[in-house]
Formats: sequence, structure tokens, C-alpha cells
Amino acid sequence: MKLFLDTANLEEIREIKKWGVLGGLTSNPTLIAKEKPDDIETYMKELCAEVDGPVSLETTAVKADEIYEQGIRLSQIAPNAVVKVAMTPERLVEQDIPVNVTLTFSPAQAILAAEIGATYVSPFLGRLDDAGADGMHVLWEICEIYEVQGYDTLVLAASLRHPMHVVEAAQAGADVATMPYEVFAKLVKHPLTDIGLEKFLADWNKLEKELKEGA
Ligand code: E4P
Repeated sequence: MKLFLDTANLEEIREIKKWGVLGGLTSNPTLIAKEKPDDIETYMKELCAEVDGPVSLETTAVKADEIYEQGIRLSQIAPNAVVKVAMTPERLVEQDIPVNVTLTFSPAQAILAAEIGATYVSPFLGRLDDAGADGMHVLWEICEIYEVQGYDTLVLAASLRHPMHVVEAAQAGADVATMPYEVFAKLVKHPLTDIGLEKFLADWNKLEKELKEGA
């Protein structure tokens, strides 16, 4: 399972890049608005240049024709741009443009995304949980259907809120897990690792002190 960062913050991208595990990036209008860029397209170019992997850039148009036109423009921003669309992605797919079908909340929607030939489908686990549904169950269902049907569309588990979401997404068979910086940072953490490191260091320092005093 590839690990994507869900952000539009360049500092966060640079930090996770240093870990050597950044497989790609997902952004959305809310995340880009948070960064208050002077020029949206220039900023999107910067995001794409910073990431060695696919970068999802979301359409904001509402009408089918406008979504298509905007999708074409977004796809031309950089070679690694993936057009994120909530609906009517078929004309973009026909043009061989990589598409990420976002805001997916049901297996039925995921079947449509696969039948259309989308590159990614993004079930939003956290938002399903927030609505009183079981996001992880929906992800399992989608992964099972895709496996049985042999669909090529990649399952991109999104709206992940904590490390167990990431672990369970991997168990379910998701191809990608995208998460905010805070969740990425928590993946590396375990209290026993901190305690273990502290003890190793204390023992090492004690040994060095003893050797110095004995010399
Ligand atoms: C993914 O593509 C989305 O940008 C993201 O996962 C949404 O997460 P949220 O529900 O925490 O806003």
C-alpha cells in the first residue's frame, strides 16, 4: 500500500519527503484555500514539482462541460497531475487523463468509478464515521468487489483520521492510504519505542562514564 500525504502545505510535504516514504499527494479546495496562495495555478505547479509521485488536483466547476474543461487544464499543470472529480469523469478518462473519483461514500459509487475506468477511487472513511456510518466496512466492501471483479481502478482510502485507519486500510487491501501530516507523524510513534530508546541511551552514557572514570 502506498502512503500519500493529504495536504497543500509545502513544509509538511518537505518534512514527510525526508522520511523516504512519500508515494504521492492528495489536495482538495479546502486544503489549498488554507494556504492562501497568490496564484492558484502557480501554487499547484509548486505542489506537483515538490512531489515525486501522483498529485491529485481537484476540480471546482459544477456543470459537466465546465468540469471537463477545468479537468483538461488541471491535467496540463504537470506530468504527475491527477484530476480529482466528484462526478462526470468519463470524458476525462476517455482522453486518457488520470482521474481520482473523490467524495465516494458507497460501494455503488465505487463500481461506477471502476466501470468508467478511473485511475483512483477515494472512499472517505472519516467522513462516513462522522455521519454515523462505518467507513471501514465500506472500504472492505469496495476492496472485495474490486478483487472479485478484477477492476484495475486503485482504491485510495481517504479521510483517514488516525493510525488504525491506516493499518486497517492496509488489511482491507487498499492500494493507497492518504492522510494528513498529523496522522503520518503518529505512524512512527509508540511509547515503548521512546522508553526503549531512553533506556538504551542511559545505559550507553553510563558505560561511557564508567570507561572514562576507569581510564
Ligand atoms: C482526500 O483526497 C481528501 O482530500 C481527504 O482525505 C479529506 O479528508 P477529511 O475528511 O479529513 O477532510
